[in-house]
Order: sequence, then structure tokens, then C-alpha cells
Amino acid sequence: MTDKPLTEITGDIDLASSDVVPTEIVMVGERSGLSYANIRTEWAPELAELELASYATANPSDLYDEPSLRLLAQDFSEGCFAAFDDSRLVAMGLGVRVHFDFNQPQHSVSDIVPEDHSSSGDDPTGDWYYGTGISTRPEYRRRGIGSEMYDLRKGVCRQLNLRGMVAGGVIPGYADHKHLMSADNYIAEVREGRLYDPTLSFQINNGFEAVCALANYIEDPAVDSWAALIVWHNLHYTSPDDTQPDGTSPNNTQP
Ligand SMILES: CC(C)(COP(=O)(O)OP(=O)(O)OC[C@H]1O[C@@H](n2cnc3c(N)ncnc32)[C@H](O)[C@@H]1OP(=O)(O)O)[C@@H](O)C(=O)NCCC(=O)NCCS
Repeated sequence: MTDKPLTEITGDIDLASSDVVPTEIVMVGERSGLSYANIRTEWAPELAELELASYATANPSDLYDEPSLRLLAQDFSEGCFAAFDDSRLVAMGLGVRVHFDFNQPQHSVSDIVPEDHSSSGDDPTGDWYYGTGISTRPEYRRRGIGSEMYDLRKGVCRQLNLRGMVAGGVIPGYADHKHLMSADNYIAEVREGRLYDPTLSFQINNGFEAVCALANYIEDPAVDSWAALIVWHNLHYTSPDDTQPDGTSPNNTQP
């Protein structure tokens, strides 16, 4: 699937039903019609509730809680988005900047976001966007909101000149196949289109490569804690090594 143009606007809306919470809308989704905004610390309760509801079989200690969502909103709000249907928060796309070594791809979610939630895990010097969570409320799924969340975060990679997006993707469909094949074989079957996974197929259709299986990524007995390493490359990325003597880069005429 190719990247789609976005309808970008800015403006102030009231997101809370009772309080006036002026917030800048960064995009109105062409497909969903929903309003998207960068996350704010005061939305931590709604974001945490959506996180818990979205990963029903995962260990809650592996998920964001309210304090860690507040830290994330403080550190990297510009990389994290929430979608609103009027005043209702219905979806989110979260992430942090990291350095990622593809020569040693095995890792767990707590290597990215510390389990004690002492920090958001965001490293402003990081050259990859690590997707730490994407979820849409069940009744809002299959309307293009997840794809719009990816479009926004791909935009962040371009704006911040990050190499791309990497994540440990959950593979809920593996629960029905784990007695039949290894996680790597399951991922290969999904990659080849012979099996459909509600999450991994959607990510592949959004331009991600499914690289390999990740063992013990997030505690989830339904899939024996397996996940898939996924990656999307930002073709506009320019390495600092490519910078010309006049301060410009080959793909960017701005110094
Ligand atoms: C994965 C998830 C975020 C997808 O969100 P979503 O808002 O439903 O995403 P989209 O609507 O953009 O796409 C989902 C599917 O609906 C399809 N779709 C989109 N609009 C549609 C429409 N109008 N009619 C029919 N199908 C549609 C998409 O093509 C996509 O199909 P695919 O799986 O074959 O690629 C959501 O299912 C979710 O929250 N899951 C639980 C949490 C989770 O697993 N997160 C991923 C962690 S790695």
C-alpha cells in the first residue's frame, strides 16, 4: 500500500465534554473523518483505558499505565497521536525515538519502555521511530483509522529525518496456529499471504516488512509471548554522513 495524501489542518476544538480543552488538530482523516491531535498529559486516563482494552490477553505490567503515558506526552508528544470522534478518544498511535541494532534484533518491550516506568524510553538522539502501541476501539475498527495513524507517524519520520519505523508487532492469529507451526513459519505464511493475521496482515498492507519472530516480546500466554519484528523504511531519510559541504543533503536542498 502506498502512502496516501493527508488532509492537514490546524485549529482549536473542545475535546472534553464538560471542560474546554483547546487542542490543535493536526489532521482530519480523509477516510475516517476523525480529528487527530498530538497526545496530552491530561488524556492519560483515556489512553491507559484504551491500551488495557486493546491488549486483553497481555500482562498489564507490559503496557503503558497513566504515569508512563504522562511521561510519554511530556517527552515525545509530537510523535504520538490520538483520534477523536467529537469528544471521544477512539484510537491512539504511540512511539519513541530509539537507536536500534538490526544485527541484534531480539528484544522485549521492556527493553524499549522500562518495566518500572521510570522513563518514557524516548531518546531524542535516536534515529528510528519505535512504535510502542497502536489501537483502535473495537467498534471503530476497519474504517481506515489504523492506516491514518501509520500515515501520521510516517510523516513524523520524514519531518524528524528518522530512518523509519520499527516495532514488535503482536500476532493474535498465531493463537490458532501455535500447535501447528513455529512463530517464524507463521510469520512467513502471513508474509506470503497464505494466512491472515488481524494485526500483522494490516501492518504488511501498510508497507511494513515482517522481519522475524521475537521470543518473549510481551507476556501473552495466548501466543506463548511471540511477536513479529516489523520495519518500514523512510526513503526520504538522509544520513548526516551524506551532508554536502554547503550544509545541504542530496535529497534536501535546505541547509
Ligand atoms: C490493528 C488495529 C490497530 C487496526 O486498526 P483499524 O483502525 O481497524 O485499522 P484500519 O481500519 O486502517 O485497517 C484494518 C483493516 O480494515 C480494512 N478496512 C479499512 N477500511 C475499511 C472499510 N471501509 N471497509 C472494509 N474494510 C476496511 C483495512 O484494509 C484493513 O484490512 P487488512 O487487515 O486486510 O489490511 C486494530 O485492529 C487494533 O486496535 N487491534 C488491537 C491492538 C493491536 O493489536 N495493535 C497492534 C499492536 S502491534
